[in-house]
Amino acid sequence: MGSPRWKRLCLLLLVAMAFSVILYGRYYTATDASTAPRSASSLLQQEILEIPQEIRNHGLFRENIIKRENSVKDSSEGEHVNHSKEQSSLCPRSLKFKVKMDATFGKQFDFGVPLLMWQKHFTPETWDALQKRNVPYGWRGLSYAVVKSAVQLLNDTGNRQLFSKNKFPNSCVRCAVVGNGGILNGSHQGKEIDAHDMVFRLNGAVIKGFEEDVGTKTSFYGFTVNTMKNSLIAYAEYGFTRTPQDKGIQYIFIPSDIRDYIMLRSAILGIPVPEGNDKGDEPQKYFGSETAAGRFKLLHPEFIFYLTEKFLKSEIINSQFGHLYMPSTGAIMLLTALHSCDQVSAYGFITENYRIFSDHYYEQEKKPLVFYANHDMLLEAELWKSLHRTGIMKLYQR
Ligand SMILES: *[C@@H]1O[C@H](CO)[C@@H](O)[C@H](O)[C@H]1NC(C)=O
Ligand SMILES: *[C@@H]1O[C@H](CO)[C@@H](O)[C@H](O)[C@H]1NC(C)=O
Ligand SMILES: *[C@@H]1O[C@H](CO)[C@@H](O)[C@H](O)[C@H]1NC(C)=O
Repeated sequence: MGSPRWKRLCLLLLVAMAFSVILYGRYYTATDASTAPRSASSLLQQEILEIPQEIRNHGLFRENIIKRENSVKDSSEGEHVNHSKEQSSLCPRSLKFKVKMDATFGKQFDFGVPLLMWQKHFTPETWDALQKRNVPYGWRGLSYAVVKSAVQLLNDTGNRQLFSKNKFPNSCVRCAVVGNGGILNGSHQGKEIDAHDMVFRLNGAVIKGFEEDVGTKTSFYGFTVNTMKNSLIAYAEYGFTRTPQDKGIQYIFIPSDIRDYIMLRSAILGIPVPEGNDKGDEPQKYFGSETAAGRFKLLHPEFIFYLTEKFLKSEIINSQFGHLYMPSTGAIMLLTALHSCDQVSAYGFITENYRIFSDHYYEQEKKPLVFYANHDMLLEAELWKSLHRTGIMKLYQR
């Protein structure tokens, strides 16, 4: 736990990383590592494992695209919006255009993959297809009855898309995705962030006291039940005592466990969680008292699979810790925005010079970002850098 030996080792290895060395990471079994503070570990009573994380040349690895199999294409999403038409007539400089113009990203992005899961998806075909993969990429081992009872409640138009483009006639939808990185401390980006049409936040998104740096607006809050609840415990000392519950806010569930399906169902029905880890939880504590189904979005496991395969296929997957790996909550939210908005700016995400910043913007004393084996933050950093370089999105750097 933050021993000097560990810190020295970490520094040394970061320098040596270009030469393909092994970095030691730590993994908290029950926490989104990008947000797990060491101080909270005893509080959370989590098992801590020291495990090696092999880091190779991520720049090269990013190009190593693997073809998607068993893809579950969604033809129904075109029913409401003709994206290609809106594209050319209303938002000529949209990121989709820039993606098309880029040789590498043009092949990686597939705007046809279903982003959200809703009622219509719950078919025998989808059930069979998603049986082939574990969470968060599929439904292997999950209870049919539980998944069905959650997904069948997602029958509102609000469950099919993040937002309706009709609300933004004649304009490009501009989105800000706000990660919780230390780079935002003293950044004065609050006004700029709030000026976006949509603002995405995630996990321990502390706002009070940091309005000038991170803004106040929240259109979407993204999480897994695990990362949300851990954030409420771990960052309570920094003021994260409540999830964002702004009027009109919409919640994006990342289905990384059966817990997420159970909580989602309870949230829509407005009833206490009936079973599992979160049994007895009152969903209004997290999502307010408004239970309209359209406020709750469920990312499609196929989308999480696609973004992992195409953008964040870490070498960790092939290690003995492969089963622990998934893209960070921040990465999933940013890629969600990149597949929905016309313009995307990322704030508080990992940059090349992350070492000079604290882990989070709200820490009073600098805490270094620690690498855990369940995420590949360096691979994510490489991706954000490339997307920024090609002009597909703007990455806030300083
Ligand atoms: C969408 O718009 C494009 C460009 O105007 C057109 O070529 C295409 O056929 C349209 N698709 C549908 C499903 O209407
Ligand atoms: C969605 O399903 C619920 C529960 O089955 C039902 O009460 C509601 O009317 C449905 N809404 C729509 C828009 O079909
Ligand atoms: C955040 O910024 C303030 C003011 O610039 C500074 O005093 C503080 O040390 C910073 N916090 C961290 C964790 O770096």
